[in-house]
Amino acid sequence: MSTPGRLSGKVVVVTGAARGQGAAEAEALARQGARVIATDATPEGDCRRLDVTSEQDWAELAAELRDSYGQVHGLVNNAGVTWRARVGDVRPEDFARVHAVNVTGPLLGIQHLAPLMPPGASIVNVGSSAALTGHYPVAYTASKWALRGLSKSAATELGPRGIRVNTIHPGFIETDMTASAAPAFREANVRETPLGRTGTVREVAPLVVFLLSDEASFITGAEIPVDGGFTAHGGAKSISDALRTEAT
Ligand code: NAI
Repeated sequence: MSTPGRLSGKVVVVTGAARGQGAAEAEALARQGARVIATDATPEGDCRRLDVTSEQDWAELAAELRDSYGQVHGLVNNAGVTWRARVGDVRPEDFARVHAVNVTGPLLGIQHLAPLMPPGASIVNVGSSAALTGHYPVAYTASKWALRGLSKSAATELGPRGIRVNTIHPGFIETDMTASAAPAFREANVRETPLGRTGTVREVAPLVVFLLSDEASFITGAEIPVDGGFTAHGGAKSISDALRTEAT
């Protein structure tokens, strides 16, 4: 059972919130009463400009939030980029660029906003099913595995202050990011997903709302897939499918 308005009075920052999952998360958080600061490197509408790789952007945001609200209760490190080069041909500069957004960005967010967080605050890092597998876009995969490490360290470090840090791992979610992939990518993902379909941003946002709410008050350092079962089978799904008969 969820309580309406369960984020009332909480100030929450969402990165990468101009579109895709971040926009849906910002909307869902606001619907539960949070005062949402939606940010993006390429903002649209009510979004504030914040490039997660910029220390200056984070410092300015933190100073503004300190002046306006005094406290920050939530941070959703959602901004992310992919780069679909494989291990043999990825260039070091692309590898570093993807890490700057996907790992250094969340680190900077935590460094600048955690000092404003009271006990009970919550940070959600958006990983990926790539963080649980050997996914072919190696820069993206390595960056999301690194984000898991950052999340665990931050949960350990901030726990004594009553600040929770959790990671969610979306599977194939219909957004601009996945729309830019080849049709074969989509088809193979659906084939490997036990629920037999892709996910929507509306199926990810409620998990973020829950983790930011006081209902998740004893959950920290956790990693939660929201992937239709994609990471549940470790490749065993194709074996199961190959051997399935009409009767079974
Ligand atoms: P998207 O491409 O639709 O949205 C990403 C947003 O991040 C964009 O609005 C973009 O402007 C923003 N962004 C990019 N670089 C930024 C920067 N340096 N600073 C601030 N904002 C920046 O992608 P989507 O799907 O909504 O992705 C959200 C998160 O979910 C990402 O971390 C992504 O890696 C992750 N994810 C996505 C999956 C999917 O299937 N769509 C699957 C697993 C994880």
